Amino acid sequence: MIKEIKLELETLLIEQYHYYIKIEEPNDRTLADIAIPLFVIAKDLKKKLPLIFDEIKDIIKKSDINHTISTIKFKNGYLNIKLNKDEITQKVIEHTQKLMKANTTFTKGKGKTVVFDYSSPNIAKSFSVGHLRSTIIGNALANIYNKLGFNVVRINHLGDWGTQFGKMIVAYEKWGNEDQVRNNPIEELSKLYVQFHNEAKTNTSLEDEARLAFALLEQGKEPYNSLWKWFREESLKEFMTMYHLLGVSFDSFNGEAFYNDQLESVVNRLEEKSLLKYDDGAYIVDLAKEEMPPAMIKKSDGASLYITRDLAALFYRKETYDFSETIYVVGNEQTLHFKQLKMVAKKLDFKDYNAIKHVNFGLVLQDGKKMSTRKGKIKKLYDVLKEAINQSKETILNKNSQIKNVDEVAKAIGVSAIIYNDLKNDRTRNVEFNLGHMLNFDGMTGPYLQYTRVRMNSILSKKPITTERFNNRLLDQSIYYELIYLIGQYEETLEKAKKQLDPSIIARYAYQIAKEFNKIYSIDKFLVLGKEETNTKLILLECTQFILDECLKILGMKILNKM
Ligand code: ARG
Repeated sequence: MIKEIKLELETLLIEQYHYYIKIEEPNDRTLADIAIPLFVIAKDLKKKLPLIFDEIKDIIKKSDINHTISTIKFKNGYLNIKLNKDEITQKVIEHTQKLMKANTTFTKGKGKTVVFDYSSPNIAKSFSVGHLRSTIIGNALANIYNKLGFNVVRINHLGDWGTQFGKMIVAYEKWGNEDQVRNNPIEELSKLYVQFHNEAKTNTSLEDEARLAFALLEQGKEPYNSLWKWFREESLKEFMTMYHLLGVSFDSFNGEAFYNDQLESVVNRLEEKSLLKYDDGAYIVDLAKEEMPPAMIKKSDGASLYITRDLAALFYRKETYDFSETIYVVGNEQTLHFKQLKMVAKKLDFKDYNAIKHVNFGLVLQDGKKMSTRKGKIKKLYDVLKEAINQSKETILNKNSQIKNVDEVAKAIGVSAIIYNDLKNDRTRNVEFNLGHMLNFDGMTGPYLQYTRVRMNSILSKKPITTERFNNRLLDQSIYYELIYLIGQYEETLEKAKKQLDPSIIARYAYQIAKEFNKIYSIDKFLVLGKEETNTKLILLECTQFILDECLKILGMKILNKM
């Protein structure tokens, strides 16, 4: 909405001043809603600032945009525009009502496909707090793109291949127990993996056995293949309980193993370009010129590596989805890997190498130290989430002992708490994992947002809107205007979040809306005696709730009507 006015102004300046300038929206809006940096123009055109100010002001005054503007002032090299509150209010409400009715996506991404690779845990290994972050951030980002009209493909690139499967198979055949694996797949399998390493210290033939087992697995031989499949299935089932709890889904679980039959073609492509070098027992792509360590493509025994499989996945995805961007949501520790991936792709003349984007994120800390749920114990992390749900159940029952669907509500609140805690700060920052803080109903938390949403809903459900007519003159602007202005920034906030690849932009926007609403609520509960006035306020409230809902859903939260 506000964005549209900016665009109109930009167009006006191109057409009548023959100059393109990016118009800014200051963070602090006490001076201006919209600002044109005249000093930039002055430098370019070698004209004096006051002259430029007068010329542009004149153009604006004579244009159609003028009626949406209340003042135009010169300060600190900027032309500062304050918008006309009545006009903005009317426009924002109309625009939001339209959105609400159509409930469609925006058009920015029309016709474009974006691939998201996120969560991607490793079979028979732990689902770490890092995977949790990747899941939450990846899901929210995909939702943002989706809202903007992009076609999104959500891929869980499972770590389901590699020499460790040879070890696991040998260990299972020697010491494994079917029921135990079935009941507790990740924990049991990783125990077997640990046992393998312990025994291998004294039993030197074990490593050879494992290598052989993996080689046979690679050839699809039985029982290796069936065992691997079974390990994968059982692990995936366990991961699914996590996804189910978080309400996250994927279009594809094509993991690393999926690309097995495409690895040779990757190696061939590299060979054709003479990029493959034999070096100290392995085939590599030398990246010394790019000041990076070499990318290892193939071991001397023929085994492929992580990056080989990622290269195959990249080409496969381009072929299958023809993406305009491919986004990998993976922790900081893999920064080098994705730089190498991009560089090797570039060397292979992969045109869209710039479409490869690594979205990294900070660590999860507990009491200031790196949080770890101990290797192999997905149950542990799952238990932590369950604990969040249990604690929120207690709080909810304390607030309202009569509540009917308490388990459903507690689940939504607990999960919202985890999600919001993860997304409230820039993704590159570390996350402090403190159940007490994140479950608080006051402050920047998921429960606060949910509670606010329920409060909005309860007003709306008690007092139905009787007419569609919105009369902005009945609103006391000084109280309502900030909220209206915020609502008007929805689309551009989405675009900003997309541009920065950071869902925290939406998380903080949702918080601002909730805060503005609560400020008003504490003054007049959104209701007054006059019927027409109440109606106008309820229309505003309906728009507010709609935008807040949009944000909560984008972040991955479930919408609650009652609490
Ligand atoms: N499985 C990997 C890990 O847990 C993450 C995979 C990320 N995606 C990718 N295409 N490399 O570290």
